Amino acid sequence: MRNITLSRFLIEEEREKQVICADLRFLVEIVSRACKAISVSIGKGALAGVLGSAGSDNVQGEVQKKLDVISNDILLEANEWGGHLAAMASEEMEHPHQIPHRYPKGEYLLLFDPLDGSSNIDINVSVGTIFSVLRCPEGVEPNEQAFLQPGVKQVCAGYAVYGPTTLLVLTVGDGVHIFTLDREMGHFVLTQSNVTIPADTREYAINASNARHWEPAVKRYIDELQAGKEGARGADFNMRWVASMVADVHRIISRGGIFLYPRDKRDPSKPGKLRLMYEANPMAMLIEQAGGMATDGRQRILDIQPTELHQRVAVILGSKNEVERVTSYHSS
Ligand code: AHG
Ligand code: MN
Ligand code: MN
Repeated sequence: MRNITLSRFLIEEEREKQVICADLRFLVEIVSRACKAISVSIGKGALAGVLGSAGSDNVQGEVQKKLDVISNDILLEANEWGGHLAAMASEEMEHPHQIPHRYPKGEYLLLFDPLDGSSNIDINVSVGTIFSVLRCPEGVEPNEQAFLQPGVKQVCAGYAVYGPTTLLVLTVGDGVHIFTLDREMGHFVLTQSNVTIPADTREYAINASNARHWEPAVKRYIDELQAGKEGARGADFNMRWVASMVADVHRIISRGGIFLYPRDKRDPSKPGKLRLMYEANPMAMLIEQAGGMATDGRQRILDIQPTELHQRVAVILGSKNEVERVTSYHSS
């Protein structure tokens, strides 16, 4: 493969393919720069005193890690001054963050989970950053209401995964492309283009400790997988659960699989654990762009009309034939 940096890739998407405009190109560059800074912080770990709890809770009532706060600040600061954004929203902030008056405003809305899988931070396991880009409707104030658009309206989605290497996985609606951070050079280089997820898989990911809370459809599906060769599926299935959505989804992007964080009966006010706007939607766009499928068991995730910025949703995504099967169990 030619040595194509992220910058060059974006220029070609703009100039030759005309799938993005200069502002969106700039936005992705800035987000990727922020991800590099987060990667550096994570890489220093205990040496920089960034591990452990921040001593605060976020809007979801979850304990914030120092790196949740640091990553959020890095993304806010990087994206404030460029003139490409109307506002930003994050897992770590109750309300949208407005662009300070001293800077010009742009047409895009950026949403992010600044650090996904933060329970894994202190044990040195892969974590990531997930982001989603929407257009701010014309003439509309970029308040919470402006963000409440279904996932089909996303113009760009991606994640960075901070693992043995730092990767950026990106879609602007023109396939899924993977960039690897060249740490010496300080830039992302295209290492895989037009990634596709196989329609069939023998690998699944679910937090099985919640089995007693699952709905019958999910219970039936997982029981069948666990019955292996002797059961209804006539095949053995393997299980993996990293507990960082980025890492689990990246495995699926890399070699197929199905990921489930289903609705369960623990708390009827919470339809699932993951957040629609900055976890499920961007991942669903990437998965669909790679030929996979993403539903909440009942409908396509990207079609869900959000009613709240931080709303939760059940997530079933990955290899098409498996997602189709478990989704059909919900209606039967
Ligand atoms: P976050 O760290 O952003 O709050 O997200 C954690 C999420 C997701 O990354 C992962 O798939 C899931 O929580 C793991 O949940 P369990 O601890 O219930 O397995
Ligand atoms: Mn998360
Ligand atoms: Mn997070």
